[in-house]
Amino acid sequence: LVASMKQVDETYIMIKPDGVQRGLVGEIISRFERKGFKLTGLKLFQCPKELAEEHYKDLSSKPFFPSLIEYITSGPVVCMAWEGVGIVPSARKLIGATNPLQAEPGTIRGDLAVQTGRNVVHGSDSPENGKREIGERL
Ligand code: TYD
Repeated sequence: LVASMKQVDETYIMIKPDGVQRGLVGEIISRFERKGFKLTGLKLFQCPKELAEEHYKDLSSKPFFPSLIEYITSGPVVCMAWEGVGIVPSARKLIGATNPLQAEPGTIRGDLAVQTGRNVVHGSDSPENGKREIGERL
């Protein structure tokens, strides 16, 4: 019995300012709901510059960092907590590759975006980061 019990995982998903401005919030939520995941937290949020810099601190030495921060703080984002079995890697699959031109059709970025710098949505890359991001933002 214990061996057959699947652990329920959680992840942090953020719809970026372009996704909100383009009216894609419902479409994106719907894809996670249809997959079978459960929405457990949601907040519309204007991200301050300092928090955006903290969120992307691993990328702070990259040439695109200033434009990334400008983009993420350019309008409200939708912060969400989602749960389900295997959700961390599954959400990354639903989202698709970082560069939307390389993202498979059928993924959010593959269907709805063209630019890496306007790629609509963020999803945590590990269960640890998911827990931390949910704790910090929701
Ligand atoms: P990263 O964590 O590598 O990708 P992902 O969002 O798929 O986990 O990068 C974070 C964000 O940084 C990415 O979604 C968009 C931005 N970015 C650029 O603007 N240019 C780039 O060349 C890369 C790699 C990322």
